[in-house]
Amino acid sequence: MILVVGATGDLGGKVARTLLAQGRPIRILVRAQANYQPLAEAGAQVVLGDLKQRDTLDVACQGVETIITTANAVARGGEDTIQTVDLEGNRHLIDAAKAAGLRQFIFVSMLTADPKSPVLLNQAKGSTEDYLRESGIPHTIFAPNGFMEMMFGAVVGMPAMMGRPVTIVGTGRRKHSFISVGDVARFLCAAIDNPAAINQKFVLGGPQALSFRAAVAIYERALGHQLHVSSVAPGEPVPGLPPMFAQVLAALDAYDSPIDMTETTRTFDIALTSLEEVARRAITKAVSA
Ligand SMILES: NC(=O)c1ccc[n+]([C@@H]2O[C@H](COP(=O)([O-])OP(=O)(O)OC[C@H]3O[C@@H](n4cnc5c(N)ncnc54)[C@H](OP(=O)(O)O)[C@@H]3O)[C@@H](O)[C@H]2O)c1
Repeated sequence: MILVVGATGDLGGKVARTLLAQGRPIRILVRAQANYQPLAEAGAQVVLGDLKQRDTLDVACQGVETIITTANAVARGGEDTIQTVDLEGNRHLIDAAKAAGLRQFIFVSMLTADPKSPVLLNQAKGSTEDYLRESGIPHTIFAPNGFMEMMFGAVVGMPAMMGRPVTIVGTGRRKHSFISVGDVARFLCAAIDNPAAINQKFVLGGPQALSFRAAVAIYERALGHQLHVSSVAPGEPVPGLPPMFAQVLAALDAYDSPIDMTETTRTFDIALTSLEEVARRAITKAVSA
């Protein structure tokens, strides 16, 4: 039995649907108010629980061989915080998994994870990686760079498809190897019971490092017309995006993040999705909606 935690989210949902399509038995840990019905109807076994409540995790882990967790509090609120979910909640889950004698714990971290980082989320991800390694549970850690659909999609794709100007933060010339969220899901699924993945950490990026200005050119080709592009200085608000996202974009204009995926794609036999493909799919979906 595979337990997916975070299945009502973007990445976790893709993982759950992929595993169900492969005919694998899965259990999902969900909150009562979340929209988990479609996955239940597709065959997932449902256990109600919360990362903040350790006792619910013990129940969820019974009879489980593998855990995949994509859960995080970034887009949540109220009592779900980086501290209560990404730090303490993940520790509860690792403790419950250890008590249940699990075969493999697959954790989604992030490229910038660092237990000593002043940025809370990076710190929580880094501390969780350390806690998992020290637990002695056979584990696999994936540390993706930003998701293409989130980074290029929100900054370039969304305004472009809505006929609005695209706002570039800073120079927009720093190159980042962002990865399609669907590819991340495929790596997670391919890691299950894979001897090459045990007690390993894999950094995940896309097929190439691209700047936001290069992304504009790709969306222009996919849409067949030029986009109106304006720019703001790093730290200034970005129209249509939350302040936290604007801060991330400011930070991204200060470094490059190329990632050589040759070895990792070979290990898991996965071909990476290009931004051209992601843009084409998003445009097709928007047109047919
Ligand atoms: N987006 C990026 O660019 C990026 C880059 C690198 C790494 N990542 C990592 O990728 C992973 C997946 O991201 P995502 O965008 O798919 O996340 P998401 O869509 O925001 O999904 C969050 C999931 O976590 C669950 N969750 C939150 N608090 C919980 C709690 N207290 N107990 C149980 N479940 C809880 C949510 O359940 P409810 O529906 O019940 O709230 C939801 O299923 C995350 O770990 C993220 O840090 C993302």
